[in-house]
Amino acid sequence: MRSLTTILVTGGAGFIGSNFIHWLLGRADFQGRIINLDALTYAGNLENLVDIEARYGAAAEETGAARRYFFVQGDICDRSLVERTFSKYQIDTVVHFAAESHVDRSILGPEAFVRTNVLGTYTLLDVARQAWRLPSGAMREDVLFHHVSTDEVFGSLGEEGYFTEATPYDPRSPYSASKAASDHLAMAYHHTYGLPLTLSNCSNNYGPYQFPEKLIPLMILNMLEGKPLPVYGDGRNIRDWLYVEDHNEAVWTIMQEGQSGRTYNIGGENEWENIRLLERLIELVAEEAGLDAARLRGLITYVKDRPGHDRRYAIDCSKLKKELGWKQSVTFDEGLRQTVKWYLSNPTWVSRVRSGAYREWIEKNYTSR
Ligand code: NAD
Ligand code: DAU
Repeated sequence: MRSLTTILVTGGAGFIGSNFIHWLLGRADFQGRIINLDALTYAGNLENLVDIEARYGAAAEETGAARRYFFVQGDICDRSLVERTFSKYQIDTVVHFAAESHVDRSILGPEAFVRTNVLGTYTLLDVARQAWRLPSGAMREDVLFHHVSTDEVFGSLGEEGYFTEATPYDPRSPYSASKAASDHLAMAYHHTYGLPLTLSNCSNNYGPYQFPEKLIPLMILNMLEGKPLPVYGDGRNIRDWLYVEDHNEAVWTIMQEGQSGRTYNIGGENEWENIRLLERLIELVAEEAGLDAARLRGLITYVKDRPGHDRRYAIDCSKLKKELGWKQSVTFDEGLRQTVKWYLSNPTWVSRVRSGAYREWIEKNYTSR
């Protein structure tokens, strides 16, 4: 098992990254430090990490405890900042979440996706290669770069079959094409320069802190506000849903025990047609918020399809299960209910994120420090 002690988490203020930081710092068997490098784009929100900052950040030092959480605001494309961060904190591990992550935005404006997902990943890989090279020219072996990627790089499935680690890449949106490019660069750095590296391709995540542009939080919040529930196309596209903590546990398992140079698929083994998922979500929101399910169903509105909308994603994650012993631990019903409850019990987070006022909150409470 690798000993990972000083971990650079990129994109740690986003949905999966902030959940990862909570999850890892909550583990008694992890006593290392986390350095969160995030540019705080529209999707990055330090409000997701207020409790972490209070418990493990600068405030911890004031009580005499060792500081275990550091935030660096910056762009992964900024090479000199990334170099300074590696050298200041003596980074031995990278887990790279930072990305432009929303397919619809990539259709409207692909450039940011190419910049962050391709150039940003290249910059991190290249700085890691330099920082971890020994004077002899050999690469350190006690280090690891974990690249977090998506099942969307594999394209679209028909009614049958699953994505395995051997499925050829066939990305079909600017988002998935930029992630595919970043995966290829990551593997190239392993093969060419011997960079110790693991890579994971995961299916759709859901859970707390997800920005409400993605299907599940968007639908929950629209239901609460009595707004239309926009279903793309015929609503029969299929996604394979995984609770975010299960994703993070898989990432950590791979980081500790995965073989360098290998990729691992992570999935929920939990396929849902969008319209069926929405119907289930309506029942849960109606129960938890005391709303009328029939009225919520009346909000369903079929809208024009997403261009190039992938029909079906489904992951075969048997390699991860067999080789590293990971398995999903949260059922879809439990995870969805917890997610609904989280959005219901965090109205201030929701209203700030919905109105864009969380940017002001960050300015006032954080970046000015
Ligand atoms: P997100 O959009 O919620 O968060 C992305 C984070 O990256 C934000 O905090 C943002 O500020 C930061 N960021 C963006 N550009 C940056 C830059 N140039 N420099 C530094 N920071 C920058 O994304 P997410 O849903 O948490 O996804 C995280 C990763 O997981 C991504 O790589 C994504 O491709 C992958 N992934 C996501 C899912 C999913 O369902 N959400 C599934 C599989 C894989
Ligand atoms: O599969 C992993 C990917 O899952 C990640 O790599 C991406 O970062 C993440 O955003 C997600 O991509 P999707 O495009 O699958 O997620 P999204 O939530 O945007 O959409 C899920 C499905 O719901 C998809 O078939 C499109 C549909 N949809 C989405 C929205 C936002 C709707 O029908 N209506 C909507 O309003």
